[in-house]
Amino acid sequence: MLPQRVTIVEVGPRDGLQNEARPVATADKAAFVRRLEAAGVRELEVTSFVSPRWVPQLADATELLGQLRRPAGVRHHALVPNVPGLERLLALPDEARPQEVVVFGAASEMFSRRNLNCGIDESIERFAPVVARAHAAGLVVRGAVSCALGCPFEGPIAPAAVGRVVGLMRGIGVDHVGLADTIGVGTPGRVREVVEAAAAHYPLTDLSGHFHDTYGQALANILACLDLGLARFDASVAGLGGCPYAPGATGNVATEDVVYLLHGLGIDTGIDLDALADAGAWISERLGRPSASRAGTALHARRRLPT
Ligand code: HMG
Ligand code: MG
Repeated sequence: MLPQRVTIVEVGPRDGLQNEARPVATADKAAFVRRLEAAGVRELEVTSFVSPRWVPQLADATELLGQLRRPAGVRHHALVPNVPGLERLLALPDEARPQEVVVFGAASEMFSRRNLNCGIDESIERFAPVVARAHAAGLVVRGAVSCALGCPFEGPIAPAAVGRVVGLMRGIGVDHVGLADTIGVGTPGRVREVVEAAAAHYPLTDLSGHFHDTYGQALANILACLDLGLARFDASVAGLGGCPYAPGATGNVATEDVVYLLHGLGIDTGIDLDALADAGAWISERLGRPSASRAGTALHARRRLPT
């Protein structure tokens, strides 16, 4: 039984724009978020409160959120690696403050060190006060687990390693967990094993998938997750994305492609696919390159055909 409704968390403004070589103006980021919201996207990972030395692309997090007026029913998310990051987020006025904080760890020790400058266990120690203070402020906390299917430095990752870090996240009170294929190497059978390892610690309703599409497996992996009962996926319009600390990783699965798949299966997303494809075309033009979304490109080509 497939779910009747799936929640898409649009991560283009964060996962997408964190990986852009050329700076994107804050006003363009705000316009991008507004277009996504106008297309019916209700959950958006807008930015990160990380060190600007590590990710200069998102150094304008406070300014960007200050420029946005969140429409009713829309939830904003932001990555937060440590207490200083949470303090920056909490300094925002209520109406600009994201409702969901994402602490991001890894199932790979080497990736954790490259991305966070500390090992897995130490990352959990750093996240613990972030979770406690975020909860005290009434925020929801998601835990992202990078390299759940493979690591650019360590190679294949055992599902037990994923289970271990998911259990540690449970131990510090993280509300729900996203399993991330950072370098897009997973295939459906392996994805099933990883979801099962995580499901020892969280109900399936509190697990989500985040698939980079490096090897073209993301939609197949999403379908495998749907079969297991997951109903929440991250995706990035126009297939933007990547992690500056994950060499070889390409963009996330394109939101337009995921929405096309879900609507084709009769699953409701609340998203207007044509308006979403327009948002994807708009940001691709601003970034000066073609969209990586197959569905987005096809929809635009069809509009140009004589009727
Ligand atoms: P560190 O260098 O060990 O930290 O980095 P530090 O405490 O020594 O601080 C270094 C400098 O950064 C200091 O400034 C701090 O004040 C400042 P200085 O004294 O040199 O001027 N600083 C901060 N400034 C603002 N906000 C903060 C903050 N923290 C420190 N929050 C740290 C440790 C965690 C900070 C660093 O490693 C970091 O920021 N890493 C983030 C890397 C990142 O954002 N990666 C991409 C996101 S993860 C991802 O894309 C994967 C995902 O999509 C899922 C998937 O696909 O796998 C989620
Ligand atoms: Mg990612």
